[in-house]
Amino acid sequence: MRTDTPVTVYRKDYQPYPYDIPHVALAFDLAPEATEVRCVMQVQRKADASADAALVLDGEDLELVSVAVDGQPLAADRYHQSEHSLALYGLPADASVEIVSRCKPAANSTLMGLYVSGGNFFTQCEAEGFRRITWFADRPDVMSRYRVTLRAEPAYPVLLSNGNLVASRQLPDGRNEVEWEDPFPKPCYLFALVAGNLTHRETTVKTASGRDVLLQVYSDPGAETKTEWALDSLVRALRWDETRFGLELDLDRFMVVAVHDFNMGAMENKGLNIFNAAYVLADAETATDANYEGIESVIGHEYFHNWTGNRVTCRDWFQLSLKEGLTVFRDQEFSADMMAQDMDEAAAASARAVKRIDDVVTLRAAQFPEDAGPMAHPIRPDSYQEIGNFYTATVYEKGAEVIRMQHTLLGEAGFRAGMDEYFRRHDGQAVTCDDFVAAMESVYVRQHPGRDLAVFRNWYRQAGTPRVTVKLEHDAATRRVTVTLSQDCQPVGVEKKAPAGFVKAPYHIPFAIGLLDREGRALPLRHEGAERETALLELTTQTQQWHFDGIDALPVPSLLRDFSAPVIVDYDWTDAELALLSAHDSNPFARWEAGQELATRQILSLADARQAGRTLHADPAFIDAWRALLTDPSLDAAYRARALALPSEKTLAERMQAVDPPALAVARDFLRAELGRQLAAEFRQAFDDNQTPGEYSPAPVPAGKRALKNLALSHLMAAGEHEAQRLAEQQYEHAGNMTDSMAALSALINYGQGEFPQQALAAFYDKWQDNALVVDKWFALQAAARYTTVQTARELMKHPAFTLRNPNRARALVFQFCLNNARGMHHPDGTGYAFWAEQVLALDALNPEIAARLARALDNWSRFVPALRTPMQAALQQVRGHEGLSRNVQEIVSKALE
Ligand code: ARG
Ligand code: ZN
Repeated sequence: MRTDTPVTVYRKDYQPYPYDIPHVALAFDLAPEATEVRCVMQVQRKADASADAALVLDGEDLELVSVAVDGQPLAADRYHQSEHSLALYGLPADASVEIVSRCKPAANSTLMGLYVSGGNFFTQCEAEGFRRITWFADRPDVMSRYRVTLRAEPAYPVLLSNGNLVASRQLPDGRNEVEWEDPFPKPCYLFALVAGNLTHRETTVKTASGRDVLLQVYSDPGAETKTEWALDSLVRALRWDETRFGLELDLDRFMVVAVHDFNMGAMENKGLNIFNAAYVLADAETATDANYEGIESVIGHEYFHNWTGNRVTCRDWFQLSLKEGLTVFRDQEFSADMMAQDMDEAAAASARAVKRIDDVVTLRAAQFPEDAGPMAHPIRPDSYQEIGNFYTATVYEKGAEVIRMQHTLLGEAGFRAGMDEYFRRHDGQAVTCDDFVAAMESVYVRQHPGRDLAVFRNWYRQAGTPRVTVKLEHDAATRRVTVTLSQDCQPVGVEKKAPAGFVKAPYHIPFAIGLLDREGRALPLRHEGAERETALLELTTQTQQWHFDGIDALPVPSLLRDFSAPVIVDYDWTDAELALLSAHDSNPFARWEAGQELATRQILSLADARQAGRTLHADPAFIDAWRALLTDPSLDAAYRARALALPSEKTLAERMQAVDPPALAVARDFLRAELGRQLAAEFRQAFDDNQTPGEYSPAPVPAGKRALKNLALSHLMAAGEHEAQRLAEQQYEHAGNMTDSMAALSALINYGQGEFPQQALAAFYDKWQDNALVVDKWFALQAAARYTTVQTARELMKHPAFTLRNPNRARALVFQFCLNNARGMHHPDGTGYAFWAEQVLALDALNPEIAARLARALDNWSRFVPALRTPMQAALQQVRGHEGLSRNVQEIVSKALE
């Protein structure tokens, strides 16, 4: 195999496809070694296309059996096959094109196209997998109605595809045959089939307009006891989209199928969602609180795609954020509404803040570094080499922030009006991000005469995280406070190669602020005709000023409340001001943020001390601030668990001049232990007060208690409290749910003494060895453990349960180690990086998409301390020089080294 030649695709080069393909009939003779696919397309040349336009189809890893037009085999000189395409010439304006081809599902380790997992057949087509099933115009703006025939041996009793089941029979040769018809035109990336031995759980619900719809969740036989939460989540998602957005399920039947080998979380194929089993299967014994939450959110996400993605889809893949950013925003709101339901106002506000905090933590840990590194791209990229590399935190999570800002600017009712307008204009179409903003703008201009979203559109055009600098002045004579906001965003990633004179335009930044007096009381702010605690400032130029009157002394600003924009705030609070905000800010998000800033300063100064070889001391004022949060009776447990969580190494790294992960790890560990020692009594109290006896429930209140209790346990264990180990052992042995057993086991293996920890670890494996998702947890726990070195990771890879072929297993061990084990991965001897290079290459031979994800672990190598930078660069060069590299990995490593 030779290395693929990288080809860059540009957004500006978009050309419409010259043909319509209104109808497709697909027939599959399913067999693991070789599956034959007959594809009959109705092909109509567009009125404005040239009469000699070829019909160019995509294909990959296919054996071409035959080509016929209108029932006649096509002469050899009327078509031409090259490596990845098939061109047909001289077609009549309206033709029936029949192509027969063969693929090899059992040999397909890429998990794109048609493949075998656990003996069953599954498909994954987004973004460009359909071309591995049959020759086709594999692009999202070609939309067709599909009729699908599946034929298979009786060993595959369940045969599913998109839409409605229209026929089912047994063939004379003993095989089964079924036919499915999807009434909605769709791009081929939404095609799916599933064939195998599966069981299911189902329910029927009435939609808002009174139609009965059948909801089903399919899994391996035996796993039907673990699909109740997923099915319930699906019902909740269906109801939520009806009430919050007025969007109803448009099919009579909606299916979710769990599969163990899957490249990502899940896929929104029309009426037949295919899910990584990790986002379907759960019961109290085997799933954690985080797993339950993840299932509800991914079930929601894929279900919501039915409108935002399927009914209205993308014109081309540069528009990916059109559906992903919007659908992530919708799933975030769904989860927030589910968490806050049945609560009083204050509890609901706190629950929403908890969800917001969790989402912002993810954004800062994954997207901010991406936006500052070699892969930085706008949420609507201008170019790519491999689209599979652009399912990124930027397109998804920052994309959701850009939607959220539009929600903030328009308000809930305005945003809903904008969504209604979007569907009114574009239902059934393949459109662009611009079309979405235009629909929102049609509402915004009515609300705000004289303004528009022209500057806002820069969020789609430019990469990088803007920095907003805040200046606050007080004039005692006029009792006036003047707030000055300035923005700046340096060129990043590809922007650095822009022609000289390239200047980034300002963004439209909704910036929510509050002001507190020196006692921590909220000051009323008069802004745009209303008096409120929070003012929403709209920064649309480089620098702007606002005035607030009737204020006696210089206040303490509470900035970027609720994280109203994905920016970095620059303001020089004193530690005392941060402590005041952390104790009193009435905005729970900003209050959390103040504590995090204090902790960040504390850890960074400890890391400095560590690098300089000084002894480490924690600042008593910091310990006091933490004590205040831990013992504040007005705060619920879930919120306190977030407020007291130390910022992640990934977030802290963004604040270091030269990143030194081992120094950060030591500093964080020191602080965790020091807090455990100095607040031992308070943590012990929290541990005792937040037990959740009785039947397990994943609901936010008990889950919050477990989060706080287990945080307390980890501090007590880190402090080396003898009593703590007894508590952890007891919790491990009597835990009635996976959250508590995992938390205890993690604390024990990281900080415990004696033989118990390793014995428990071995017993855990023995108990759960037949449950793949729990075995993943077992690997992940060890891969990220403090004692795990490259050598330990290599030993673990020799375990009989380990395989690189299963992405969940590879993620549990290899990704955990490379991404989340600072000491092992970033050992100055460079062995972590050599291990990384080896695994990237091993994975690349099996599954380029997964390999490319691992390849990204070294993205930001040039910002590390010199001692690490050099071996990192060498490892990247080694991978880049490898013969036969996929274009997926090639794009990542070559951009990293540019
Ligand atoms: N559309 C899917 C989702 O909802 C993700 C598909 C990603 N495909 C891929 N090859 N990475 O998030
Ligand atoms: Zn999605």
